[in-house]
Amino acid sequence: MNGDRRMHLAWFLGNGFGVHDWKSQWRGTAATDWMNGEFHVDFIRALERACFDYLIIEDSAYVPDGYEKSMRYYLQNARAVPKHDPAVLATVMLSATRNIGVVPTLAVTEYQPYLLARLVATLDNLSDGRAGWNIVTGSSDRAAQNYGKKGQPAHDLRYEIAQEMTDAVCALWSSWDADAVVADLEAEVFADHTKVRSVDFNGRFFRSRGPLNTAPPPQGRPALIQAGGSSAGREFAARNADSIIAAATSVEEMKEYRDDVLGRAEAAGRDPAEVKVLFLCTPYLGETHAEAVDRKKRHDDEVWANPEAGLAGLGFITDIDFSPYDVDTPLQDLAAKFETNGHQSSLAARLGDPGRTLREVAAQTHAVEPVGTPAEVADELGKMIGEVGGDGVLFVAGPLNRRVVAEIADGLVPELQVRGLARTSYDSPHLRGNLASF
Ligand SMILES: Cc1cc2nc3c(=O)[nH]c(=O)nc-3n(C[C@H](O)[C@H](O)[C@H](O)COP(=O)(O)O)c2cc1C
Repeated sequence: MNGDRRMHLAWFLGNGFGVHDWKSQWRGTAATDWMNGEFHVDFIRALERACFDYLIIEDSAYVPDGYEKSMRYYLQNARAVPKHDPAVLATVMLSATRNIGVVPTLAVTEYQPYLLARLVATLDNLSDGRAGWNIVTGSSDRAAQNYGKKGQPAHDLRYEIAQEMTDAVCALWSSWDADAVVADLEAEVFADHTKVRSVDFNGRFFRSRGPLNTAPPPQGRPALIQAGGSSAGREFAARNADSIIAAATSVEEMKEYRDDVLGRAEAAGRDPAEVKVLFLCTPYLGETHAEAVDRKKRHDDEVWANPEAGLAGLGFITDIDFSPYDVDTPLQDLAAKFETNGHQSSLAARLGDPGRTLREVAAQTHAVEPVGTPAEVADELGKMIGEVGGDGVLFVAGPLNRRVVAEIADGLVPELQVRGLARTSYDSPHLRGNLASF
């Protein structure tokens, strides 16, 4: 950290442009109007009021059938399906705001560089420089089959594809000089053709002639966000991302991850200070400490009693069917059976300890979970990020409804702000500018 105690705040909209809380006491009208975008507009405005740097919209493009080898669990519980296109929601959210960044997830195995570069450049123009791209490699064979392939390429090869896609997209974004559009009425010249070039990208996986036919993105290069956890993933994130998002549950894990990716960034010739590492955080808030503790306990009890939800979730990112196994048998008897070409580091983190049962795996958290009043949680987060050395937190909370959003945006964040731990205004009109400002 550079002496500035502020942390960057972002939010991960898990389940993307899908169904969020549709059945709790605080569900509102989500069961019938989750798809009209009104909740999302209220949501992004609340985050902007709280001066968040950015929101990520999760994505996956398949109807999962990992658990029980069936679509039942997922459709019955609106888990990962139905889900609309995140880039369209990003358009709506950016149109409803002035300062906050919005980052759709776009998988490198589902796009061509020209399509992706044009889409994100359009979002960046539409928002005066607030667009980003959450670069993911895709994980499920079901998604690959929706795009005419048999299955996903091997895990590490997907990161080679990701690097080539990123290089091609960045080349296309720079195919116009920033000052190519002159709009000179007197000379009757709109764009100076000498400042627009083809890119002639010719790689192993992708080809594109270019130039883009959009105007150049206001940020030059829109913000790149990434969440690699494996060695190949960390290397890719360290080389490319403006902000890296990660799951960790202790200060030691966070420090290990951050030191590792920043070391890799430096080894790749980057200034590590330009990479902001944000850790997943799910706060449990109450008006009193006892109330917050009670809420967390009720949540934990529910998860313990209902391992199906956690195992179906793990099936969604690994394509593994955990349903045939006894949830109370220690894993040493089971671990050898599980392999994935999906989110490998996520699976390894869950199955690492052979003494555990699948019920424990299902109940495991992947975020830090501070518990208390907004003031107590603000103190705890300040101490935690101070010990880690930076750079901020990526909230993920659910089931997501307006109450949960208000607790964080209107309860916790003001407590962070009065402690000098979060920004009270934006420094830059651009997402990358705000990430770089401290
Ligand atoms: C906070 C966070 C958000 C993620 N969002 C997505 C997503 O929207 N779509 C997706 O396919 N993968 C997503 N992932 C998975 C990562 O891209 C990555 O595959 C995962 O962290 C495992 O790392 P590895 O690919 O290096 O094994 C996310 C991971 C994290 C930690």
